[in-house]
Amino acid sequence: MKAPSKAAVDDLVARARAARERAHAPYSRFRVGAAILTKSGEVFAGCNVENASFGACICAERNAICQMVAAGAKDPIACVVVTAGRGASPCGICRQVLAEFAKDMHLVLVGIDAKGRAKRRTSSLKKLLPDSFTEFEGER
Ligand code: THU
Repeated sequence: MKAPSKAAVDDLVARARAARERAHAPYSRFRVGAAILTKSGEVFAGCNVENASFGACICAERNAICQMVAAGAKDPIACVVVTAGRGASPCGICRQVLAEFAKDMHLVLVGIDAKGRAKRRTSSLKKLLPDSFTEFEGER
């Protein structure tokens, strides 16, 4: 899968940062923004949305994927995740959900420091989830 251009990643970072500003994270106070780029060039952003019933919390990456699916879009090629600190890596559930739509998705993990400066590191879903569950077969 072709890596997204620098301009495309810059746009994704901006969209993920904006979504992160809208996070609903009163319990953890850890805000996360994500933005997904599709093959056709569309971008879908999401933030984490927490709940007083902790198990109902949704992560930013899954929120972004849901936005994409609900819009009728497909073929994600890259996902940018923005957090404080060094730039958090997607949790296990989000890795599996991303892998449902593209096992070789490009990932850019962005950390925002106290001065608002962004530091990027690149990764990939192949690296973070090398043996995802795919072969669903119902038992007869
Ligand atoms: N979170 C995400 O949004 N994405 C991840 O991949 C890991 C964790 C959120 C969930 C919760 O709202 C907060 O970060 C702390 O775990």
